[in-house]
Amino acid sequence: MAMKKTWEGRFKKTLDPDADKFNASISFDKRLFKYDVKAGMAHAKALVKSGIISVKESGRILAGLRALLKKESSIDFTVYEDVHSAVETELSKAIGETGKKLHTGRSRNDLVATDTRMYMMDEIKVVMGLIKKLMARITAIAGKNTGVFMPGYTHLQHAQIISAAHWMMAYCSMLKRDHDLFGFVLGRTDRLTIGSGALAGSNYSLDRALLAKETGFKNVAENSIDAVSDRDFAMDFLYASSLTAAHLSRLAEEIIIYNSSEFSFITIDDTFATGSSIMPHKKNPDIAELMRGKTGNFFGALMAGLTMIKGLPLAYDKDMQEDKVLLFARLDELKAVLTIAEKLLANISFNGEKLDVQLEDYFMYAVDVADYLVKKGTPFRDSHTIVGQMVSYSIDNNKPFPKFEEHELRKFSGKFGGDYYSIFDPVRSVNSKLTSGSTSAASVKKQIAQAKQFIKH
Ligand code: ARG
Repeated sequence: MAMKKTWEGRFKKTLDPDADKFNASISFDKRLFKYDVKAGMAHAKALVKSGIISVKESGRILAGLRALLKKESSIDFTVYEDVHSAVETELSKAIGETGKKLHTGRSRNDLVATDTRMYMMDEIKVVMGLIKKLMARITAIAGKNTGVFMPGYTHLQHAQIISAAHWMMAYCSMLKRDHDLFGFVLGRTDRLTIGSGALAGSNYSLDRALLAKETGFKNVAENSIDAVSDRDFAMDFLYASSLTAAHLSRLAEEIIIYNSSEFSFITIDDTFATGSSIMPHKKNPDIAELMRGKTGNFFGALMAGLTMIKGLPLAYDKDMQEDKVLLFARLDELKAVLTIAEKLLANISFNGEKLDVQLEDYFMYAVDVADYLVKKGTPFRDSHTIVGQMVSYSIDNNKPFPKFEEHELRKFSGKFGGDYYSIFDPVRSVNSKLTSGSTSAASVKKQIAQAKQFIKH
């Protein structure tokens, strides 16, 4: 049986049951319960400060709201239209007439925005914690694999040799940006909207600084019309989660490729792989595939959110109720993907022998050979051409770079000497990268140290 509506005064008939169900948000906004109660407490304090309710009344409301918090699990939310009417009605049920005074000078329009922002601020902090946890895992893997070398790719073609640690730390850099972005989103979410009323402001001189302090906001929305119709914070979250999901999808894709029979660079532990119902030999990277596959859900939600606000007349429109459907589903899935990514990485190991076979593609030293000539005075453009000719010769004669005889080398350049042969060493190759951020051991160590420092704070 649905409860009486808080707004039913002017209606001669009750809402059609299907329309009622369609209109209700309780199934998803009940997760804002704690925040709605907290916003109610702040409001009661503002009401008493302005002399709108008595100290005794506010005491009763506060005690009633405190008691409500404890009985959340026993409330039958299904009978309510939304979390706001649930809190208000349950309060009145518990403390009687005084409970009906709580909604003085506020509207569900300013309340829902405040509740959602409070909830998202807490949850964004959780997301940021999970991002750091994943960064910590990546950093730990990198720390253990500074001596493992692998092909670095461009265009998915062998390019230059990198350390496995450097490859891993690329994802740490992405995630640091994601962390920064969520910090920015947190700042934009941090805005009190109560005190805006339905759209025009409140007829009571509510102390908004007090409301902000009590609800934990640093900022107060400056325009009441914008306050009740602004869902930018939701779009920001949907975008930030889309970008994080895209980063995790790139990681998932590389795990899938590197785990394939053709590459076999890595092995996924049995605990994070699945089998086939028909092919007995199969061991599939389903977890990584789902990490990749879920990315579209994030992009879709971002598009749905932008489409929701596009063209909405000011101020509040019910369309905006959908923000919570989008936000909550994305939040849950983002937390799930971040959590599983960390665990998946903990269950992956590098296959050194397979990687060593790849390192026998000596063309990955081509830049090092060109720079060898540069160091001996050849202009880079010329050395690039010379090494290009050597590549062509190598292919035609089926002879890898280190097998070139000195007399063959001198056909390409008189600058080649016996020290040429020491170029073909992965350790030397990575450590010959001198710029900060490069794949050299020193640079990777620094990246790891900086990431650890960032994760700590
Ligand atoms: N459930 C609504 C929402 O999430 C609360 C605000 C309702 N306001 C209104 N004017 N009907 O947006």
